[in-house]
Amino acid sequence: MSIKHIFVVGAGTMGNGIAQTAAVSGYQVSMMDINEAAVERGQATIAKSVEKLAKKERISAEQKQSALDITGTTQLGDAAKADLVIEAATENPELKFELFQNLDEIVPKDIVLASNTSSISLTKLAAATGRPDKVVGMHFFNPVPLMSLIEIVRGLATSDAAVETALEVGRQMGKTSVVVKDSPGFVSNRILCPMINEAIYALDEGIADAEGIDTVMKLGMAHPMGPLSLADLIGIDVVLYVMEVLHRDLGDDKYRPAPLLRRMVDAGHLGRKSGKGFYEYNN
Ligand code: CAA
Repeated sequence: MSIKHIFVVGAGTMGNGIAQTAAVSGYQVSMMDINEAAVERGQATIAKSVEKLAKKERISAEQKQSALDITGTTQLGDAAKADLVIEAATENPELKFELFQNLDEIVPKDIVLASNTSSISLTKLAAATGRPDKVVGMHFFNPVPLMSLIEIVRGLATSDAAVETALEVGRQMGKTSVVVKDSPGFVSNRILCPMINEAIYALDEGIADAEGIDTVMKLGMAHPMGPLSLADLIGIDVVLYVMEVLHRDLGDDKYRPAPLLRRMVDAGHLGRKSGKGFYEYNN
């Protein structure tokens, strides 16, 4: 089936980034969140992003307009009209299981339901629906308009056709896709979050300060951002959540979350979104 209309669930950082990317790639896009204010915040973020990208001539005036034309909604029922649903709601298993159950009732049976989950089992999400073969992971990276990867996650029951749909949409979005098996953290977070966790141990042990640790990784390993700065971008609560999933589901103490990581979350120091993480942010 040819995909024309994509329905994105969630207008937060990942949801609005996915919606923007889909719109500038020629799809008709609807973006849903639970209240008007959240939808409007998502639309404002998109407007700022496309303004910058258009100024730098990385997108055309038409592409910018397509992103500004994204339909905002608070009704999950509007997903009934879409050719593909991409779920990018808060990373909370109960919430996502319920969403997938509801989407399964709303959306025609031949439609693929994709999830941007970074740590929840795709196989379990798929099992919450009556169409496990049509549930696939499309794991995007923050900031979505700039990062060129999609991890396409194949659950135990995901069909080749659903994987092909995700690959085709990824191609049209101009992204490079890698197909991975459903396993805790997939490839990206299985490797990234333990590295960040280790950086937090190093900080807590006083091996170097935050700037020192980040500089080592930036200049010594050519990472675009240091691990602590990246933790602030991702959200320190998200990093803790992923480490807990790895620790629990792989059952190996090498994934034990750093005590300082837990303390940061307890203190509400969640990174950029809270104004304070390993660094301070004015806005
Ligand atoms: N839209 C448009 N422009 C944006 C943008 C967005 N969403 N986000 C940033 N930019 C712009 C900045 O405003 C800046 O513009 P100006 O130069 O005009 O000021 C420009 O992009 C470059 O940004 P920076 O100067 O801040 O610096 P940079 O060259 O380092 O690029 C970056 C920023 C692309 C984020 C780069 O630092 C980078 O690649 N960092 C690593 C990001 C990463 O690893 N992401 C993955 C996180 S893991 C994840 O998402 C998955 C998970 O499950 C946890």
